Formats: sequence, structure tokens, C-alpha cells
Amino acid sequence: MKDKQFLMIPGPTPVPETALQAMAKHPLGHRSKEFSAILKQVFQDLKWLFQTQEDVFIYTASGTGAMEAAVYNLVNPGDKVLSLVIGNFGERWAKIAESRGANVERLSVGWGCAINPKDLKAKLSADKNKEIKFVTLTHNETSTGVTNDLKTLNDIIQEHGALSIVDGITSIGALPFKMDEWGIDVIVSGSQKGFMIPPGLAFLACSKKAWKIYEQCKYPSFYFDFAAYKKNAKKDTTPYTPAVSQIAALSETLKMMKEEGLNNIHTRHAKIAGGLRVAVEAMGLELFVKDKKIRSNVIVAIQPPEGVSVADIRKGLKDDFDIVVADGQGELKGKIFRVGNLGFVCERDMIATIGALEIVLARLGHNVDRGKATAAFIEAVMSN
Ligand SMILES: Cc1ncc(COP(=O)(O)O)c(C=O)c1O
Repeated sequence: MKDKQFLMIPGPTPVPETALQAMAKHPLGHRSKEFSAILKQVFQDLKWLFQTQEDVFIYTASGTGAMEAAVYNLVNPGDKVLSLVIGNFGERWAKIAESRGANVERLSVGWGCAINPKDLKAKLSADKNKEIKFVTLTHNETSTGVTNDLKTLNDIIQEHGALSIVDGITSIGALPFKMDEWGIDVIVSGSQKGFMIPPGLAFLACSKKAWKIYEQCKYPSFYFDFAAYKKNAKKDTTPYTPAVSQIAALSETLKMMKEEGLNNIHTRHAKIAGGLRVAVEAMGLELFVKDKKIRSNVIVAIQPPEGVSVADIRKGLKDDFDIVVADGQGELKGKIFRVGNLGFVCERDMIATIGALEIVLARLGHNVDRGKATAAFIEAVMSN
């Protein structure tokens, strides 16, 4: 089946029709009154989504741009950074900080695991002279399908006094997150995830404590400079020409999110991922993440059955159903496949994906009890 593409990857995600239509309109002038009115509402809605009173900056970049913005506006060369690495994206923080000339130490765990709060506590307690100025971490690690216990980890970081710099790229708008209540210092995200619009916008918010550190930054970024974005946000504008069509689309999806409500959004993600996990086990497949408590509710990492390759599963889904699922990344390439339910994904989409997966696996010779996984998903969501 062609031209019926169905993205079940952890971003880009499917995009609602209203957002697509907003993007298709003639672009507004970025200094026009009409655009400022849209931006004013978007800024307000982003504060709601991030659960913060601080400004949320909108950058024209992918999520990595906001990661770089965070590091380059805060970290001075030679500063000590502790990077908590549980997968590919945790490692990205470490690499960006190294590119800044920081003195980076990694606290790494095996892929498929989360940071154990006790290990972080031990590491930071050993830092008697408070040399560690920043701790970078990933809320939801997309490469493995693991969610860190962000609130607990952040409490430990705050107790030590370092600044927390958090990747919320696949958590904001999908998983519970409360910037101010949890006391997060810096959070970044990207538009092609829980925000339900295409790639191209990145977001960053920082606490008052982070702002003081920014003021001591010797060489802040030019294009991503915090002060420029803050000053302009106060005037409902941006320092440079923003991606106006993307922002028009974002204003539509933020409206949809407010109508659905944060709790309902989180419950939808939890229910669909939970149902998928039950279905996967009903197909006789193994989940990659063994510890139930840390399994992500936006991305499920699945091991292929003996004798069936990830490449063939992905090809079968793509060729026969036009459904796209993700391969593993880095050391997990070809070892797992990942199904995303991030953003604009509903039960209908997952029923179709699970049914298609049952057919593809059966065609590839895996002994599938036909319909059992789909029934298991339906049962799980109905009884939830
Ligand atoms: C957790 C996480 N961090 C960072 C990124 C990088 O974002 P981008 O590809 O938008 O630069 C991704 C992308 O998938 C991600 O999932």
C-alpha cells in the first residue's frame, strides 16, 4: 500500500489536519500584528505545557539546536559537567558539552537501564568541593525506550547545588512534567514530538537560577542567545525571522492539547503504550526494557523473534501496510525495533499497527496466534 504513510516512530509524528492546513496558508509577516497575536497566545500556551511561569523560547532548529543553545549559553570552557548517559541522546549532551571545551564526566548505565538515584547521590556527595557545575540528563531516552525518574534525580541535583540541564524532547506534551514544581533548571524540547507538528522548532525554558549562570557565561551563543529571546518574548516576537508557518500550526495543536487536558494526554500515552506492551508479549516477543518501572509510555522497544530480522519486520510493515516503525540506534541497530505512540496517536492507530505486525510476523514464519495480540490490546485498553 503506497501513499498512506503512517508514522509509528518517535518523531516525526503524525500531524493533525488543522495543523497541516494552518501550515498551508500564505505565511504571515513575522513583525505583523496578526503574527504577534498568534505568538502571544503560543507563548502563554507553552508556559502551560511546560508548567512554568518562565518564558519558553522558540528556536528555529531541531531539538539538538536547543540542546546546543542550553550548553553554549551556560557552560564556560573548563567547567565541570556530569552527563548522565542511558543511551544515544544522553551521550549527545556529553558530546555537545565537550565541543564547548567543558570537562565532562559521564555516569553511564547499560542501554535499557535508567539512572539509579542512589548512584547519582553517591557521585554528587563525593564532589565535596562542588566542582560539578552542571548535570545533563535525558527525561525519556528514545534510543532505548526508558524514562528516567526525573523528579527524584533533579531533587538530588538541587540538593548538591549544580544546575540541571534536561532533554525533554520526547517527554514534553506526552509524559508528566512540571518544570517549576519539580525545580528543573533548563529544559529543551522539539516540535516533531509531543507537539504534533513537523520538525523545525525547538523550545527552551530556564529557571531564575539558570539565568544567573547565563549572566556569567563568557561567550554566549549568538543565534540562540537567551537574552535576545527573552527580551523579544516580552514583546510577543522573536529576535530573528521565525518559522512562521510552523508556529501557526503549533497554535492549532496547542489548542487541541488544552482541550484534551494534560492529565488526559498523559493517560492516553500510558494506556496506548501499556496496551502495546501487553500485545507484544501476547505475540511471544520480548520487550527490550526488563524493568517495568522504567518503561517509557511513548516508545516501546521490542526484540524480534528468533530467526526474524528487524529489517524484514520493518520492510513488511512498510511495503504491505505503509506503516513505519523505527530500527534500534547505535549498538542496538538491527537488535530491536521501536514503536512510537508519541503525540497525535490514538487507539485506532495502535490497533492497526498491532494487527499489521501480527500479519507481517506470520508471513515471516513466526508462529503467531492470529488476533491474540490485537485482542490483548483491546482488552488492556478497555479494562484500563
Ligand atoms: C530524546 C531525544 N533527544 C534529542 C533528540 C534530537 O532531536 P533532533 O533530531 O530534533 O535534533 C531526539 C530525537 O529523536 C530525542 O528523541
